[in-house]
Amino acid sequence: MGTGYVGLVTALAFCHHGHRVTCVDIIPERVDSVSRGKAPFYEPDVAEALARHLGSGLLDATTDTAKAVASTEITFLCVGTPSSADGSYDLGHLGAAARSMGEAIAGLDRHHLVVTKSTVTPTANRSVVLPAITNASGKEAPAGFSLASNPEFLREGSALADALAPDRIVLGIMEGDQAARDLLEGLYAPFDRPLLVTSLEGAELIKLASNSLLAIKVAFANEVANLASSVDADGYQVLEGVGLDHRLGPHFLRAGAGFGGSCFPRGLRALVAFSRSQGAPALLPTAALDQNEVQPAVMVDLVRKALDGNLQGKRVALLGLAFKPDTDDVRETRALPIYKLLLEEGATVVCHDPRAGSNFVELVREEGLAHPDVREGLDEVLREANAAVIQTEWEEYRLLGPAELVSEMAPPRAIVDARRTFDPYMMRAAGVTYWGVGLPPP
Ligand SMILES: NC(=O)c1ccc[n+]([C@@H]2O[C@H](COP(=O)([O-])OP(=O)(O)OC[C@H]3O[C@@H](n4cnc5c(N)ncnc54)[C@H](O)[C@@H]3O)[C@@H](O)[C@H]2O)c1
Repeated sequence: MGTGYVGLVTALAFCHHGHRVTCVDIIPERVDSVSRGKAPFYEPDVAEALARHLGSGLLDATTDTAKAVASTEITFLCVGTPSSADGSYDLGHLGAAARSMGEAIAGLDRHHLVVTKSTVTPTANRSVVLPAITNASGKEAPAGFSLASNPEFLREGSALADALAPDRIVLGIMEGDQAARDLLEGLYAPFDRPLLVTSLEGAELIKLASNSLLAIKVAFANEVANLASSVDADGYQVLEGVGLDHRLGPHFLRAGAGFGGSCFPRGLRALVAFSRSQGAPALLPTAALDQNEVQPAVMVDLVRKALDGNLQGKRVALLGLAFKPDTDDVRETRALPIYKLLLEEGATVVCHDPRAGSNFVELVREEGLAHPDVREGLDEVLREANAAVIQTEWEEYRLLGPAELVSEMAPPRAIVDARRTFDPYMMRAAGVTYWGVGLPPP
C-alpha cells in the first residue's frame, strides 16, 4: 500500500525474487501510470524493472485494497509519514491505510500479515496501526492477523539497488508471533543479507536512530569544513583524514549545502519530538537541524564574496535543484533556501536541473513565490551568469570541462561549488575563479 518511492521499489524487489505483487494506492492516476508501465517518479533502473515485471505478469496495480488483500498473504504499508507542525510524524495516512487494511481483513477467512515499512517513531505501530486494524477488522493479533515492522533504508538515487541488497533487514515482531517471523524470514531469505529480529519498538527506533546519526555526521562534516576554510585548510582533505580512521569510516563525512530529502530533516525533527515526549532533551538532533539551516547561508556568503560583496543586479546560475543527484525529488532541497537568499539579496537567478525542474517550479509556487526561471538548456543558464552555484553534483555537470563551464559566463565567472563536484585545484589551475565549501578563497 502506497506506490511511491518505497512502495513501488519494494514491489519491484519482491518481483525480482519471483513473488507476485499488487501495488495499491489511493491516487487513481498513480495506479494508472504504474499499470501502463510509467513510474510516477524518476529513479534509476525502475522504469526497466517495471516494464519487465508487468510483462511477466508478476506485478499489477489497483486502488481496491480489499481485492489486493484477498489475493495476497502479506501487505507492506508504504504510505507517507510527513512532518506535523510539532515535528512529529503525521500518522494520518498510516492510520487510514491501517483502517482500510482492517476492513479488508474483516472479510478474510485466512490469516494476513501486515508489515509497516513507513518510517515512524516508537510506539506508532502498537498505539496507532494495531488498534486501527483491530477495530476495523474485529480481530485480535496475532490470532486474527499479524502486525510487524520492517523499516526501509533505501536511498533515493539508488533505491532499487539498495532494496535488492540492503545492508541489513530489520524485523520488528510482536511477542510470541512466530508465524509472522517465519513468514518474513522466509520472504527475505533469498536476499541473503544480515537480518536482525527485534521488538516493534526496537525496529522503529533503529530506523530513526540510523537516519539521525547519518544526518548528524553530515552536519558535523559541514562544521568542520566551514572551520577548515577559515584557516587555510582544505575541508574535504581534513574529512578524508578523519574518515580514514576505521572507527569512523569515510561515509557521510561530506560537507555541502546541507542535507535535504524526505528522510533526514524529517527524521531529526521526529526524533526531537519523540525525545521530548519521553522527557529527554534531544540535544544532538536539535544541533544537527540548526547546523543544517546555516549551510545555505554559507553558500550564499561564498557567492557574495565571489561577486565583490554585492549580489544586487548580478546574474546567478543555480545548477541542481533536486536534493541529491539521480532523483527528481525536491522535498526539503537546499536549492530552495539558496534560491530565496539569492533573490533576497537582489540577484537574478536562473535555474537548471536534469530531472527536477518542474518539481522545483511547483515547490517554489507552494512557497508563494513568483514563477522561477528554470531552463532546460545548461548553456542558456550559464550564458551571461556572473556566478554559477552547483547545488547538486549531477554527473552532467561533472562532465563539463572548465572552458565549457565558464566561457559563456560574464565576469567574474565565479563557480561556487556546494558539493565538491570538481577538483578545485584543477579548476583553479585552468584559470577558473573557483569557490567551494570547505575551501580557502581563491
Ligand atoms: N523516500 C525515501 O527515500 C524513503 C526511504 C526510507 C523510508 N521512507 C519512508 O517510507 C514512507 C513512504 O515514503 P515515500 O517516499 O515512498 O512516499 P511517497 O509520498 O513517494 O509515496 C507514498 C504513497 O502512499 C500513497 N498513499 C497515501 N495514503 C494511502 C492509503 N491510505 N492507501 C494507499 N496508498 C496511500 C500516496 O498516494 C503515495 O503514492 C515514508 O514513511 C518515508 O519516511 C522513505
